[in-house]
Amino acid sequence: MSSSLTLRPIGLIRTQKQVKFQAGHQPSETAEERNILELFPDCNYELALRDLAGFERVWLIWWFHRNPTWRPLVLPPRGPAQRRGVFATRSPHRPNPLGMTPVRLLGIEGRRLILGPCDLVDGTPVFDLKPYIPAYDAFPETAAGWIDEVDAQLRQPARFVVSLAAHATMQAQWLRENWNIDFIPRLGELLARDPSVHRTRRITRRGPELRVIGCGAWRAVFRVEGETVEVVALEAGYPLRFLTRENHEEVPDRDAQMAFLERWPERPAAAE
Ligand SMILES: C[S@@+](CC[C@H](N)C(=O)[O-])C[C@H]1O[C@@H](n2cnc3c(N)ncnc32)[C@H](O)[C@@H]1O
Repeated sequence: MSSSLTLRPIGLIRTQKQVKFQAGHQPSETAEERNILELFPDCNYELALRDLAGFERVWLIWWFHRNPTWRPLVLPPRGPAQRRGVFATRSPHRPNPLGMTPVRLLGIEGRRLILGPCDLVDGTPVFDLKPYIPAYDAFPETAAGWIDEVDAQLRQPARFVVSLAAHATMQAQWLRENWNIDFIPRLGELLARDPSVHRTRRITRRGPELRVIGCGAWRAVFRVEGETVEVVALEAGYPLRFLTRENHEEVPDRDAQMAFLERWPERPAAAE
């Protein structure tokens, strides 16, 4: 028996999510999303798709292609800062970087599949498709270990009240109006649940009073007092010297970040 296997993607998915921060930990079923899985030509995939129409959902088996490494213990983004064995999680940092997502199948047009909400970033390679079969795949009453415990906590109302200070409000408005960028709802959701320092949630300390959370290519600086969180400023995630380097045209929101830095120049490191 061979000890390794070479997989070739059958196609790439096109989604609106350019950075991992924008993709939920699992798809948000209430989101109005249309994603396109474009299968490669000249592989007979049109034929392989025969009879798939009629299934309301398909499993996507896909590649966490942006993650070069894996870890035996991971810090899940939900719940308390507690490391879990990677096989007890859906972490993207796995020895074989395979993701699986049961997405809604909205239509098939030749080699293009129109899909509902998903948790894949744009350009993710997909290896396989299988019909989702409730009789085989759904066991809703099954116990789910530590996830059940965390879910019970999450069902409690969010503990923190999040607000934006005037400066952050102005920056958020500028981003929305000029660049159609709006990560504030997701930021609010995350901070309302738990603004504590957490590596996977990308929350770090800045000085004695402030904390910073990474939001994809952006950052938000905030302070916590009791059960209130105040976002005091937004920041570009990358410094200007990085954004202006050649070959960095692909950095997410690069033009918006450069314009943002022109409007709100970087603070000298000493001020941090
Ligand atoms: C927690 S994983 C779950 C994936 C899948 N539903 C599963 O259970 O196997 C979902 C996260 O993977 C990350 N992700 C999405 N596409 C990726 C890619 N191509 N490479 C690496 N990480 C990716 C995003 O941060 C997303 O929030």
